Amino acid sequence: MKFYWENKPDSDMAQRQALRYSWESDKNMNKCIIRIVDWFRFYTFEYVGNAIRLVVTPLTDRCYITLTQAMNLTMGGAPAGPAGTGKTETTKDLGRGCGIYVVVFNCSDQMNKDSMAQIFMGLSQSGAWGCFDEFNRILIEVLSVVSTQVKCVLDALKEKKTKFAFTELGEINLQDTVGFFITMNPGYAGRTELPENLKALFRSCAMVVPDLVLICENMLMSEGFVQAKDLSRKFVSLYMLSRELLSKQRHYDWGLRAVKSVLRQAGKLKRSDPEIPEDPLLMRALRDFNMPKIVTDDKPIFLRLIGDLFPRVECPSKSNPEFTKISHDTAKKDMGLLAEDAFVIKIVQLAEILEVRHCCFIIGPPGCGKTAVWKTLVASYKNNNQDCEYDTLNPKAVSSDELFGAYNKAKEWKNGVLSVIMKNQVKNDDKYKPTQFHKWSVLDGDIDPEWIESLNTVMDDNKVLTLVSNDRIPLSPQMRLIFEISNLKNATPATVSRAGVLFINDTDIGWNPYMNAWLDRSTIKILQGTREGANLP
Ligand SMILES: Nc1ncnc2c1ncn2[C@@H]1O[C@H](COP(=O)(O)OP(=O)(O)OP(=O)(O)O)[C@@H](O)[C@H]1O
Ligand SMILES: [Mg+2]
Repeated sequence: MKFYWENKPDSDMAQRQALRYSWESDKNMNKCIIRIVDWFRFYTFEYVGNAIRLVVTPLTDRCYITLTQAMNLTMGGAPAGPAGTGKTETTKDLGRGCGIYVVVFNCSDQMNKDSMAQIFMGLSQSGAWGCFDEFNRILIEVLSVVSTQVKCVLDALKEKKTKFAFTELGEINLQDTVGFFITMNPGYAGRTELPENLKALFRSCAMVVPDLVLICENMLMSEGFVQAKDLSRKFVSLYMLSRELLSKQRHYDWGLRAVKSVLRQAGKLKRSDPEIPEDPLLMRALRDFNMPKIVTDDKPIFLRLIGDLFPRVECPSKSNPEFTKISHDTAKKDMGLLAEDAFVIKIVQLAEILEVRHCCFIIGPPGCGKTAVWKTLVASYKNNNQDCEYDTLNPKAVSSDELFGAYNKAKEWKNGVLSVIMKNQVKNDDKYKPTQFHKWSVLDGDIDPEWIESLNTVMDDNKVLTLVSNDRIPLSPQMRLIFEISNLKNATPATVSRAGVLFINDTDIGWNPYMNAWLDRSTIKILQGTREGANLP
């Protein structure tokens, strides 16, 4: 193993490419200095907490070098690439490495020049970094004003000023640590091409293919797996083969986000059953966690692939018999439904997905039992002494302004439906209480990039809803977003990769239980002598 601090001639470049820390003191200063290639900065001691750091891969190194070199040239950084390649997280990780607070904003077409000006003024005065996610969703008219605002700050930085006049809004202080980073998915629906004068202010960095095997190996190791090297190769091969051999469904995602959620699940299984060998354990995680999203036709192919990668390995599904029994009884007694096995399995699968992901799409054709599944899960939680409260809304019934909030003509902020629900859940207002185990926002309505991409920072690792008023609503650990939809036709890959998927096939539950449950109810009413109430002819 080669350590970066070994100052051998052949390790010199490798050493210079990594973030290096040194404590330097003389009679004038006593400081921690961070270096990477020829960029250096004093460590700023912002409290970053015990956050999960990323696996250092050649791609993250390249991104660090490009972003820091951009700062050397007094420019912003612009990592661009497909969804889930680590653009946002790498920027945040570099900030954590430098002890700088990174504020992530979810840009949207609702943003205007005033809200952007407020952000730039705040960042310049505090010296924090701004990471503008999905920057190219901002309208082109606003972007051209934004370029003058960014240029104004960068010019002041170049001139090493400590105070400067920010556009026509007056003189403000300037901390030289400030940095601007924009992350974009070029070419997705609802994105604009950046104007040339704005492009010239940011140095771009292509983030295309993350180093999956390295990330997988290191994360398996950190979850406690000993044979991480072999298992990571199998893991990544399965995902590559699934991408090629399974049918092309809009809700399939075999990228980094999907890999990470299975790794988390595998870690949980490892800790709960430490004596089971690692091969079957990973196989169980891969199979049980992916099956809920696989369509009926692809199930045999997927199981065969797993069988080929883990030959002669047997590992039955880990079930939670108590919760399954509670769900079964709840469906039957409380909900008046027929507790068929297929239905109960879907309820348990939904509960399992919600344990590792905070957003979930329940996808299925109309009438396949989507609402019945989540409502029965709510009732099962209650019967299991876990209070669960939820709010339902149809995001397509209101405009984006009514959903997230907007300024009216008098420049007063008016909250939107979703922002009110989420604020209530965070602040335990209205029907929400601190004792509740689960707080859900159920969004029942078609997905289109216009509104759902404003939830991008809520649905990824940041877990904050950023509004145009510059309000930030962080998700608490009890909060979940459930989307009930019939397809993901209009969703971009950025949306698809951000949530877990429970797919309900036509045939999974079918119409039989529906008919039988109705017959049961009718029979009871007939026996009670209320033939009319039974709604029979
Ligand atoms: N080097 C790495 N080591 C470990 N995890 C990583 C690494 N790079 C990225 N990830 C993980 O991949 C996931 C996706 O990263 P991120 O949210 O930054 O993607 P993105 O490129 O910003 O995607 P989008 O364009 O959809 O916003 C995160 O959960 C992140 O933690
Ligand atoms: Mg991102």
